[in-house]
Amino acid sequence: MNAVNRTNPVMTGNYAPIDREVVLGDLKVIGEIPKDLNGVYVRNGTNRRYAAKGRYHWFDGDGMLHGAYFENGKVTYRNRWVRTKSFLEEEKAGRALWEGVMEPPRRDRPDMPLKDTSNTDVKFHAGKLVTMWYLAGDIYSVDPATLATDGQETYGGTLKCRVSAHSKVDEATGEFIFFDYGKTAPYMSYGVVGPDRRVSHWTPIELPGPRLPHDLAITQHYSILHDLPLFYDMEALEAGRHKVKFYHDTPARFGVIPRRGQGSEIRWFEAEPCFVYHVVNAWEDGDEVVMTGCRYVTPRKASGEPDPERYAKMIAHLMMDAVLYQWRFNLKTGTTKEGPLDDTLNAEFPMINSAWQTRRNRWSYNVMMARWPADEPRFTGLVKFDLDTGRYQAFSEGPHFWYSEAPFAERDNPKSEDDGYLVSYVWNPNESRSEIQVFDAQTIGDGPVARVLMPQRVPNGFHATWVSAKRLASGI
Ligand SMILES: [Fe+2]
Repeated sequence: MNAVNRTNPVMTGNYAPIDREVVLGDLKVIGEIPKDLNGVYVRNGTNRRYAAKGRYHWFDGDGMLHGAYFENGKVTYRNRWVRTKSFLEEEKAGRALWEGVMEPPRRDRPDMPLKDTSNTDVKFHAGKLVTMWYLAGDIYSVDPATLATDGQETYGGTLKCRVSAHSKVDEATGEFIFFDYGKTAPYMSYGVVGPDRRVSHWTPIELPGPRLPHDLAITQHYSILHDLPLFYDMEALEAGRHKVKFYHDTPARFGVIPRRGQGSEIRWFEAEPCFVYHVVNAWEDGDEVVMTGCRYVTPRKASGEPDPERYAKMIAHLMMDAVLYQWRFNLKTGTTKEGPLDDTLNAEFPMINSAWQTRRNRWSYNVMMARWPADEPRFTGLVKFDLDTGRYQAFSEGPHFWYSEAPFAERDNPKSEDDGYLVSYVWNPNESRSEIQVFDAQTIGDGPVARVLMPQRVPNGFHATWVSAKRLASGI
């Protein structure tokens, strides 16, 4: 079904797609799965079903969800493709109908010039999983118990735009806070879905031109939207080509908007030019709105000048070189203070205890990255940062192990922010197998407390979420 191109590093080894959807129980475990770990770890990722013509980019594959269901010391795994409109069209045709992002878009499909795969992100909102795509697309509702796709989510027809990956759920209010971006003015919009699964707020956000934001941040009263100086080469875009460029002389801008504010109320704060894939968290502190995130380190030429071409290439291929960073936006003075929290480790794909989102948190759990140059993105370990002191503890079994984004999974009746576990799909190159690894979040440096040995590979992928049994039952 999948013709594997042996020369493309993101189509080989554990990047290669799998063909089977399975449900697996009675899995062999080394160590012990904690009995007070109850809920589901779900990770989205790219898993191409039909080989297509043209160059393949890791971001091109069809979305596939991998769920590890923990209950009273036992685990069950299942995987399902996200049955998007494009997936169903290709399934009907029995072949690929779109090429990848490195090839020209389909001119005969203005509704979907690039294949919208919903392969990037997954969150739990109002009783359902929702899958999202990094270029902003349709979103899909998925049954959290079976991973069966219910269909496109429009919130009863109240959603009038597309939605980007990294839209966020506020577990305190049950709201889903979303953004959309694209190539036509005003280039961005922003909105809120209520716990009743209806869009309760929506507003256009005017940007100076088309941008490629990847994330947003939320505090209790505000959202922070990103206008970063990495965007299309406008000459190439006018000629119909997609070429991404880093404008190293253009400030980054972060827009602070009240959660239910209008686009006209947004306040833009300038910061040093940078690109940020992922936010860690944000909160309010007196007159300041504080945001922590993983900020790309600007690559430089031998002369010391920024190297914008290399920067754009790294970002386009998810070659991470990022440090933990903090921005403080002063609502009274309109000024920004910024600086690194740690400038030693290259770490990305940050996760926190999601109950602390919008509030000041202490712990960030990130994936350690191999430094450029590498043939493919390498997610080589896990690190727990203490944002208060700058200390960290890390774990890796070697540079060719591959760790998935590891959300914090609280213990039943947790006593503190880090009272729980981390769960990750790990590729073990020594044994050529995937494992589900469980770490005690307080002692991740000691290694996993349980390794679940997988008879089927879980290919390397993107974003994950933890949904506790309590949230699954309450739907919030
Ligand atoms: Fe992302």
